[in-house]
Amino acid sequence: MYLIREFREEDVYDVFRIAFENLTEKYSLDLFLDIHRAWPSGFLVAELKDIVGFIAGSYYEGNARILMLAVDKPFRGRGIGSALLNRFIFECKKMGIRTVSLEVRTGNIDAIQFYQKRGFQVMSRIDNYYTNGDSAYVMWKMI
Ligand SMILES: CC(C)(COP(=O)(O)OP(=O)(O)OC[C@H]1O[C@@H](n2cnc3c(N)ncnc32)[C@H](O)[C@@H]1OP(=O)(O)O)[C@@H](O)C(=O)NCCC(=O)NCCS
Repeated sequence: MYLIREFREEDVYDVFRIAFENLTEKYSLDLFLDIHRAWPSGFLVAELKDIVGFIAGSYYEGNARILMLAVDKPFRGRGIGSALLNRFIFECKKMGIRTVSLEVRTGNIDAIQFYQKRGFQVMSRIDNYYTNGDSAYVMWKMI
């Protein structure tokens, strides 16, 4: 069984590794700490023996934004990504947040389907959004 819990600063190396190995965009160690300080309950990890996934978000007024969501490959397809997302949405609701948005690479079909099955809809597209020139879909969900 895995546990979903709030990120702690000592988790930063595990989360950095998961992001590095599972996300195309590359992020600095400091960014994770900054995201956590800005909104501690919006940064969650999934822990078995080790940390195997995380979700990190930000918010502004009544909208939360998922900045990163990743689960290590061998642990995918076991409901961990869904559990992270559900707990994130729960934390949003506690704060009175009404919408959740995110950007996803237009070619990341698995993630797009993952979010669509969980009630997110594509609202718009941003060309040349990522460092490598890939475009993003902006997806939204009312919670
Ligand atoms: C998107 C992601 C976080 C989902 O995590 P997950 O732990 O696999 O999520 P779940 O197990 O809750 O659901 C995955 C879905 O894929 C299916 N699946 C089955 N086996 C799978 C496998 N080996 N790998 C991935 N998905 C699998 C699941 O059954 C489930 O299907 P459903 O949508 O019909 O319910 C994960 O695939 C990931 O880290 N992807 C790379 C990073 C990424 O693209 N992040 C999102 C962009 S920000």
